[in-house]
Amino acid sequence: MDLQIHGKKALMAGGSAGMGRATAERLAEAGVELYISARREERLVNAAKDISEKYGVSVTPVVADSSKEEGRQTLFDACPDPDILCITITPPAPNGDYLNITPDMWRESIETALIGPIEIMRNFIPVMKNKGWGRIVNIATFSAKNPMIWRLMSGPARSALINYTASVSRDIAASGVNINNLLPGMFATEGAAEIMPIYAEAFGLEPTAESVLPHFLENNKIPAGFMAEPDDLAPMAALLCSPLSRFIVGQNIVIDGGQHASLF
Ligand SMILES: NC(=O)c1ccc[n+]([C@@H]2O[C@H](COP(=O)([O-])OP(=O)(O)OC[C@H]3O[C@@H](n4cnc5c(N)ncnc54)[C@H](OP(=O)(O)O)[C@@H]3O)[C@@H](O)[C@H]2O)c1
Repeated sequence: MDLQIHGKKALMAGGSAGMGRATAERLAEAGVELYISARREERLVNAAKDISEKYGVSVTPVVADSSKEEGRQTLFDACPDPDILCITITPPAPNGDYLNITPDMWRESIETALIGPIEIMRNFIPVMKNKGWGRIVNIATFSAKNPMIWRLMSGPARSALINYTASVSRDIAASGVNINNLLPGMFATEGAAEIMPIYAEAFGLEPTAESVLPHFLENNKIPAGFMAEPDDLAPMAALLCSPLSRFIVGQNIVIDGGQHASLF
């Protein structure tokens, strides 16, 4: 399928690993000029080089923290006029006992997982409206719709994010700019591996894969029967970044192997 985005310019905020990198690769495969960002420089620069060499497109690495005003300004300066904007941000680590969550912890969660993406969108929406075309995709989490007691630093802020995009996407749709959200379930990514020790500590487990994985799969029944790979999400992200998605507005697409059971 021709995604009809060859030659367009995309900013993948959070593109050096996991689902963000997989999305960047699918966009590169479709001939998109890329700007990818992350906080950690070495992995980012390597990712940009690998993607550029593999697909023969320009990939510019931008070291920037999307959760901080200064980092966002770096993004805006590096790529002021993208046609396509994808955003993913790592929220604070899984919480332990919810009675120990402090106001400062809530503030960090909201600053990162809600205000970060909103501020990036707020900067680029006028740019895209002026062009008369744009695509925005947030890679958030299925815990926005599927409450999880150990993911309170991620889910509630993202529930607010999808509420925001439900309104804003409908306000701007007639200008050719669409916002949609992808809500991933359990994906085997670099990020998931990094939180394994924290998950183990929260549940009093040994921080080893042998100890954590059975507990994790017992508490996360996945009808598909496996944890996903990043590229189980990326093709859908690329489709939402293309003109082919012109009638898809303000949607929240859950990609979780069927884990969250609901009709809508
Ligand atoms: N993996 C799962 O099972 C799972 C489940 C549900 C939801 N999610 C959500 O899906 C999204 C992607 O997760 P993933 O597992 O693909 O993560 P990942 O493997 O850690 O990749 C995240 C990417 O975003 C970058 N990033 C994170 N925070 C950033 C920030 N503040 N500023 C700039 N770049 C940032 C990371 O690089 P740096 O770290 O160097 O900045 C990395 O390139 C996250 O929002 C996560 O909460 C994941």
